[in-house]
Amino acid sequence: MEPITRVLDVSPVESLAAYEAMGGGSGLRVAVDGGGDAVMAVLQASGLRGRGGAGFPTATKWRSVIDYTTDEVPATVVVNAAEGEPGSFKDRAIISANPYRVLEGALIAAVTIGADEVIVATKRRFSDQVARLRSAAAECRRAGWAPGVTIDIVEGPDEYLYGEETALLEVVEGRQPFPRIAPPWRRGVDGSDELGPGLAPVEPDGGGTHTPPVLVNNVETLAHVALIVANGPDWFRQHGTPESPGTLVCTITGHLQRCGVVEVAMGTSLRSVIDDVGGKPLVGEITAAMSGVSNAVLPARLVDTPLTYEDMAAVGSGLGTGGFIVFDASVDPVAVAHGVSRFLAVESCGQCTPCKQDGKAISDAIDHLRGATTHRAEMTIVETRLETIETGARCFLATQHRRVVESLLDLFPDAFIDRATNRTGPTEPYVISELEGFVDGPDGTAPVYDERHRDKQPDWTYDATDSGTSPVERFHQPVDPTEQP
Ligand SMILES: Cc1cc2nc3c(=O)[nH]c(=O)nc-3n(C[C@H](O)[C@H](O)[C@H](O)COP(=O)(O)O)c2cc1C
Ligand code: SF4
Repeated sequence: MEPITRVLDVSPVESLAAYEAMGGGSGLRVAVDGGGDAVMAVLQASGLRGRGGAGFPTATKWRSVIDYTTDEVPATVVVNAAEGEPGSFKDRAIISANPYRVLEGALIAAVTIGADEVIVATKRRFSDQVARLRSAAAECRRAGWAPGVTIDIVEGPDEYLYGEETALLEVVEGRQPFPRIAPPWRRGVDGSDELGPGLAPVEPDGGGTHTPPVLVNNVETLAHVALIVANGPDWFRQHGTPESPGTLVCTITGHLQRCGVVEVAMGTSLRSVIDDVGGKPLVGEITAAMSGVSNAVLPARLVDTPLTYEDMAAVGSGLGTGGFIVFDASVDPVAVAHGVSRFLAVESCGQCTPCKQDGKAISDAIDHLRGATTHRAEMTIVETRLETIETGARCFLATQHRRVVESLLDLFPDAFIDRATNRTGPTEPYVISELEGFVDGPDGTAPVYDERHRDKQPDWTYDATDSGTSPVERFHQPVDPTEQP
């Protein structure tokens, strides 16, 4: 497979001067000289879709923010660098290789939507990337790259929900990562502490106070923006399909000899990416691949699916963040279902009762199946709780839980039935957690997972036992069920 290096540089770009020497900054100059309307036209023609998971058209999002901005208070650009999706490392790889292009994309966004502030929201734990971002931001300031625009780095918590865009804004405001109802272009950031620490606003419209809107984009999305504005939409569309133009940075992990991060043309089959990066499965053949913890699991027969939004949707799954966890013959689907279910049940904030309570019930029931301490009733619990878990859900996490577990039940029914009827013995837990990085060994490159998640409780503590109190109750969030959408 032909290697592509558009947004994922092969060698780290060590300084702003080095970035400029390779042509960096020309997109920002085009934006400053040509103005916002010209940028919007180019972005629209490029067909760029957000790389944070949902594939939302970037130009449409920017237009919403522009339309919602008032003359009095400028908007803010927030770079989503929280990267919490299990199986994804691409944003950290992009930042480590070249933080300048990400900042350039964010500054182009600021110029285009009239923002006076860029905030890069990342995790305290990503210390290497935090250092790269801080030093790159300082160089950009010194070089006068962004007159009238401040650049700040926010170091947030480990929680998975922090990456959800409205939860991200809560953290920027100094509160807990609890998703809001109002989208970022309706309720942005205003630095207000009217709600007190830990409390998320419940008003869909921002509570009548018009806070300036915020544009939230993923790291990779903004890196593409810088290149699109510099090189034009036709250049961007040289790769990909009409509906999924450009390139995609994929993370390949799981039970393979080699794992890693690679940039590919949209439309490349998942199998070629696995072959290219991953080499061979460790035991037997590939049995399935999982697109983060957000979409239906792909069985082996669908691993040839082209990586586009439309092709992945057509086979009942989704591209997500392009992070794929690949399973071989040694992996037990019941253990995987429990690993995903536990991860999402723990990470649920509890603002919506079914998401937390049904989520925990599903996770516990599958754990009983996994441990062979069960009978058929556990299957009924899983199936009935999957029907209600999404009720009143404020964010997408509950849907993710249903999608992944349902897909494993559909694909591997015998594995579950055999456990429910005690025909198969117990199997070891399969921990699903965020990626820490990669380690090279004599036999290949292996992923390193966040082992601490094994001990994380559903109340978001690391205590020996779970208190039974949801994270949102721990922070005294008053929940009004009538406010649920
Ligand atoms: C539970 C949850 C976790 C998410 N985590 C991330 C994340 O870590 N990084 C990210 O860019 N988007 C994440 N998203 C998606 C964001 O909410 C949002 O759609 C994205 O930042 C928009 O950027 P884009 O339009 O450039 O894709 C998450 C969404 C959900 C529901
Ligand atoms: S759906 Fe789940 S994670 Fe999302 S806000 Fe509701 S309880 Fe929290």
